[in-house]
Amino acid sequence: MAPTPARPRNPFTATVGKTPLVLAGRDEYLDDFDAAIQDGPGSHERISIITGPRGVGKTVLLNEFETVAKSHSWHVISETTTRGFNDRIRDRAFRLLEDLSNEPKRRLSGLKLPYLGFDTEAVPSFSPTPTLRSVLDELFDRQAEINARFEQEPVGLLITLDELHYAHMDEIIEFGTTIQHLVREDREIAVAMAGIPGAVKPLLAADEGRNPVTFLRRANRIETGMVPIPEVRTAMDKTTEQVGISWTPEALDNASRATGGYPFMIQLVGQHAFRNCTGTEINNEAVSRGIRAARRKLGQLVHEPSIADLSEVDRTFLTAMSSDDGPSRMSDIAARMGVDAQYAGNYRKRLIDAEMIRSTSHGYVDYELPYMRDYLRSHHAADAMEQFSIWPE
Ligand SMILES: Nc1ncnc2c1ncn2[C@@H]1O[C@H](COP(=O)(O)OP(=O)(O)OP(=O)(O)O)[C@@H](O)[C@H]1O
Ligand SMILES: [Mg+2]
Repeated sequence: MAPTPARPRNPFTATVGKTPLVLAGRDEYLDDFDAAIQDGPGSHERISIITGPRGVGKTVLLNEFETVAKSHSWHVISETTTRGFNDRIRDRAFRLLEDLSNEPKRRLSGLKLPYLGFDTEAVPSFSPTPTLRSVLDELFDRQAEINARFEQEPVGLLITLDELHYAHMDEIIEFGTTIQHLVREDREIAVAMAGIPGAVKPLLAADEGRNPVTFLRRANRIETGMVPIPEVRTAMDKTTEQVGISWTPEALDNASRATGGYPFMIQLVGQHAFRNCTGTEINNEAVSRGIRAARRKLGQLVHEPSIADLSEVDRTFLTAMSSDDGPSRMSDIAARMGVDAQYAGNYRKRLIDAEMIRSTSHGYVDYELPYMRDYLRSHHAADAMEQFSIWPE
C-alpha cells in the first residue's frame, strides 16, 4: 500500500497567550497604536488598557503591540502583574541601560558603534538603590543622547503588563505614579495593560479617596470583544492557505459562524476541522465533526475549570441564569432558586468577585465567559432541577 502523504502541520493555535498565524480583526487597534507611536509623547493611545473576557485575545493583542513597537525599533519590556513586578521592570530596564552602553539602539541599521563613554560600572558605591523611576529616567536620558547623536527618530520604550488585577493595587499605583511622571516629562514611553473586566474595574473606580490610579482612568480603553464573522472567515481561510489547504465555501461559512467570533473558538474550531480533513480540502463533514469536538474542548478547557472551585450554591446560581437568553434579572434568579433577595445578593457578590458574572444594568447580571450559558444548559441544568423543586417547567 502506498504511504499516505504526510498532512501539513496544524496551523491553528488553540493555546492561551499564543499569537495566531493569522490575526482575525483588531486592525483598528493596531493602527491606532502605531499612529500613537509615531505621533509622539502625549498621544492618547500610548497608554492603553485592554479589557475583555477570558480567551478573547488580550494577551495576543499585547504581543501585537510589542511587534508594532519593535517595528519602530523601540525597546520592549513585558511583564505580568504579579507581586514584585515593579522591581522586575526596573531590573529589565537596568539591563537595557547596560546594553545601550555597549550597543546603542539605532534605527534602521545594525551598525555596531564605538564606545560612547558611558559606563554603568562606574556608578559610585554610595549611590542609593536604584528605583524604577531613577532607572527609567537614566534610560530615557541615555537614549535621548543617542537619538540626538545620530539624528534619528526617537527610540522609545513600551512596557506591557498582562493580567492586571486589583489585588496588586498598591504596586499598580506605584507603577502609575512613575509612568505619570514620565508622561509629564514628555518621555518616549508607551504602556499597554490587559486584564479581565472584573479584575480591572475596581482599579478604575475611585477607591477610598485614593486617586493615583488616575493614569488608568485616563488611559485609552480597548474593550476587546467578538470578531465580526466575515473577518473570522477571512482569517480561517488565510490560516490554512499558508499550509496549502483550502475549504469548500460552505464548510468555511459553517466553521466561521460556529466560532461566534470568539477568538479562542476560532482556533479550536479551526484546529479540529483541520484534523478531520482528508486530502487538501476541508469539507462540511470535517467541519461538523470539528465543531462538536471544539465545543467539548471549550467546555473542558474554559468552563469546567472555571466552575470547579465554586460551591454548590454558586453553581446553582449560575445554572439558574442559564434559562435566560441574555442578562438575568436578580429577582428571577432568586425566585428560581427559591431564596430571598438578600441571600441571592450575597451569592451575586461572591460570583462577581470570582469573575464568573458581572452586573450589566441595575438588577441584572450576565456571564463573564462566552458560551457559559450553553455549557451550563447542556451540562448542569438537569442537576439543578433535581435540587430545587420549584424550578420552573
Ligand atoms: N484576533 C485573533 N484572531 C484569531 N485568534 C486569536 C485572536 N486573538 C486571540 N486568538 C487566539 O485565542 C486564544 C486566546 O487568546 P489570548 O490568550 O490572547 O486570550 P486572553 O484574552 O489573553 O485570555 P485570558 O484572559 O485567559 O488571559 C489563543 O489561542 C489565541 O491564539
Ligand atoms: Mg491572557
